[in-house]
Amino acid sequence: MAEKPTLLIVDDEKTTREGLRAALEERYDVYVADDAKSASELLESDHFDVLLTDFRLPGEDGLKLIARAKSLSKPPICILMTAYGSEELAVDAMKRGADDYIVKGRLQIDELEMRIARALRGQRLETENVALRQQLDTQFGMENIVGNSPAMKEVFEIVQQVAPTRTTVLLTGESGTGKEIFARAIHQLSPRARQPFVAVHCAALAPTLLESELFGHEKGAFTGAHERRIGRFEQAQGGTLFLDEIGEIDGAIQVKLLRFLGERSFERVGSNKTLTADVRLVAATNKNLEELVKTGVFREDLFFRLRVVEIVLPPLRERRSDIPLLAQRFLREFAEENRKNVNEFTADALEMLMNYSWPGNVRELRTAIEHALVLCRGERISARDLPPSVRAGNAPAAAPGRPAGRDLTVKEAEKQLIERALKETNGNRTLAAEKIGMSRRTFHRKLHVYHLEEL
Ligand SMILES: Nc1ncnc2c1ncn2[C@@H]1O[C@H](COP(=O)(O)OP(=O)(O)OP(=O)(O)O)[C@@H](O)[C@H]1O
Ligand SMILES: [Mg+2]
Repeated sequence: MAEKPTLLIVDDEKTTREGLRAALEERYDVYVADDAKSASELLESDHFDVLLTDFRLPGEDGLKLIARAKSLSKPPICILMTAYGSEELAVDAMKRGADDYIVKGRLQIDELEMRIARALRGQRLETENVALRQQLDTQFGMENIVGNSPAMKEVFEIVQQVAPTRTTVLLTGESGTGKEIFARAIHQLSPRARQPFVAVHCAALAPTLLESELFGHEKGAFTGAHERRIGRFEQAQGGTLFLDEIGEIDGAIQVKLLRFLGERSFERVGSNKTLTADVRLVAATNKNLEELVKTGVFREDLFFRLRVVEIVLPPLRERRSDIPLLAQRFLREFAEENRKNVNEFTADALEMLMNYSWPGNVRELRTAIEHALVLCRGERISARDLPPSVRAGNAPAAAPGRPAGRDLTVKEAEKQLIERALKETNGNRTLAAEKIGMSRRTFHRKLHVYHLEEL
């Protein structure tokens, strides 16, 4: 049988103390104290599951004792006993951390036991919930990230290590290697996961706009500043700020960032009031920052501050063993989205995927699979479904007479596919939809989108 829960009874009246002890000791391992001081000593020397204390005690009162107990690293369930007629006090007790209260004059042992049991059950559920949530968060953090190559395994490991800290992380790698998806994972796996994740694409804005985007501005700070604006740093309070394409920021903003990293403080544009924010920075770049430092475009001191931990995401061509996994993952995703029953690649198709150089890395692979799925008419993705760029990349060097193969966009390809199906079924929409493996509803929507209703 499981051990009995431990219970500490604090009351200065001996009869109450001993009465309660006698009533409860069958189910609980009961200890007693006659004032807050000796109760505190007991609480500090040992863990108790439940604290049952009178409000009125010699010296410190029961509320203070509860506050003290709740500040322990593993606090007990706290139940306050009050005299009849002091309900207000009871409400106050609950606010200060008591889990329940009972009115002494009316005390029924049955009810007291029931309340203790209920509080203990509630606590157990809460503990289980916290564990479950943590587990879910961990899974969520990386569940959508695929990779089995040694290089990626190493990345996963570093991410797991740095995520729980507040350390600034710099993610580097070519375009499409997964910098953003990892930035999000770092946030998800950190204790900040429930706070905001705010992403700023630094290259997308002119320097002056970027400055107010990041730090905010006061009304009238510059022409067009009609309203006060809260910046991204303030929005990210308690959470993570992701600065994408950090290599693009200009000197003035570099200085401000440097200051933030040193002092955690900044000012809104047009204000001299210093603000602080508890924000973790994650930055990314596909530029070689070291080069930018050498040419004087990027401040060296800022570079070092950002690169406390650098995670290098290798290009896809240097971790080809990840290609089948990624391709399979994207295929499943798009097949579900498009409700097509395609879940495999032919050997030829897979070989082409493996041989291609993927200059656009994972992002390019993802688009290629989407393209192939839309075109695919069988149950497996075959070589001819792949985008021309991938096929051309696999062709024996400059095959003579071969058309250059303009890379169709997914939409163009889809439109052509629908046109072809309609032609082949003499305009029978039901058959055409079936042929492509689309639901009738989707098919009709697409006819509308591509202006093919006349066909
Ligand atoms: N390991 C991976 N597993 C699953 N999906 C991935 C992986 N890496 C990248 N992706 C996907 O590939 C696409 C590109 O990734 P992401 O946007 O993170 O790249 P990036 O490095 O930020 O690119 P850019 O430099 O162009 O901004 C996204 O759709 C992302 O979800
Ligand atoms: Mg990106």
